[in-house]
Amino acid sequence: MVKQIRSRAPHRPRVFVTRALPGTGLERLAARTHLEVWPAPGGPSYAELVRGARDADALLCMLTDRVDAALLGACTRLRVVSSCSVGLDHVDLAEATRRGIPVGHTPGVLAETTADLAFALLLATARRVAEADRFVRSGGWTPERRWEPELLLGRDVHGAVLGSVGLGQIGRAMARRAAGFGMRVLGWSRSRRRVAGVERVALEDLLAGSDAVTIHLALTPETRGLLDARALARMKPEAFLINTARGGIVDEAALAEALAAGRLAGAGIDVFESEPLAPSSPLLALENVVLTPHIGSASIATRVRMADLAVENVLAGLAARALPHCANPEVQPASATRSRRR
Ligand code: GLV
Repeated sequence: MVKQIRSRAPHRPRVFVTRALPGTGLERLAARTHLEVWPAPGGPSYAELVRGARDADALLCMLTDRVDAALLGACTRLRVVSSCSVGLDHVDLAEATRRGIPVGHTPGVLAETTADLAFALLLATARRVAEADRFVRSGGWTPERRWEPELLLGRDVHGAVLGSVGLGQIGRAMARRAAGFGMRVLGWSRSRRRVAGVERVALEDLLAGSDAVTIHLALTPETRGLLDARALARMKPEAFLINTARGGIVDEAALAEALAAGRLAGAGIDVFESEPLAPSSPLLALENVVLTPHIGSASIATRVRMADLAVENVLAGLAARALPHCANPEVQPASATRSRRR
């Protein structure tokens, strides 16, 4: 069921938004468009998404909404797609481009917040914070175990070697945090970019030489499964893996096996091959893993900035202006009347 959050204004462009958003962005949209916001948490199913977007001029979606060729083919009025995310692996960008539809996203505003979470996962994993919390809550901290020289020993983060797989905005923000902890930072990126304070090395050398490996790449056909069993086997047994990028970059079954067998010391994981994580996932049984539910950008300020930017992308697309952040800038802004390639 789609709830109308504003009185109907059918003469205005129609916008379908798949989730309520923080901040005032939706009010700005409602003032200028005929707005429909999916009312329930969790968002629409794929069929509901297609139904909701079928008559829309703009779609404002989340990373959980699959915007594929079939949807783009069914929703022939769409003049702009705007995702409230930096990652766009849920959108068929090539098909949107072929159809002349600009696709907006939200880079820039979430890099520092996501790096905060990646560093939190690194600290929590290396210092066994979640495990220690479970120990206290489950009554393990008894007078007999008041303070033990060997209780819950972890590994130092300060002075360790951090390997950043990817040196985009989030990878660089992570490297700045590592510098504050006196870490040596190794980096690898497909673009071969040079970053001050980061030693650029081959991926194999980064994996073998790091005490913690952190992933900051987009999920693309080239990066899918990049950290497979062979790549994980290159890491030191005392090393940690941190993933706040996309689950599909890591072979999750191989990771769980390596962690269970002690071939890796631990992992801090915010993103999974399939989300939500299935109750049958072997990761759930492992003490040396810290799991979070895809919350890399989840600070109040950042989610408001993302929502604002996603709304600006919609309004620009509807006004046939260049989107503030467009993933396919080769698509020229389309006027409402211009005929489109279908
Ligand atoms: C989060 O994962 C995003 O892509 O914004």
